[in-house]
Amino acid sequence: MSENTRMQVRANGSIRVTGTVDFVDAEGNVFRTDSDFSLCRCGHSNDKPFCDGSHRSNNFQAPAFDTPKEDAPNN
Ligand code: FES
Repeated sequence: MSENTRMQVRANGSIRVTGTVDFVDAEGNVFRTDSDFSLCRCGHSNDKPFCDGSHRSNNFQAPAFDTPKEDAPNN
């Protein structure tokens, strides 16, 4: 099992983060550290950036996908 933090894009739902992440502000200061949570990608959560399950009642439809390959250009 990897010790790296993992992100998994779920079909018709959130991005599941497994591991510990530091949340930083615009200046790079850590203001929160959390682990094992889901990020909203449907835009309907009332607790952004976290998923609150609203994607289900809004019938969010989007396929799961892999993260870009290492040789893909960054945005
Ligand atoms: S993905 Fe779950 S509330 Fe948006």
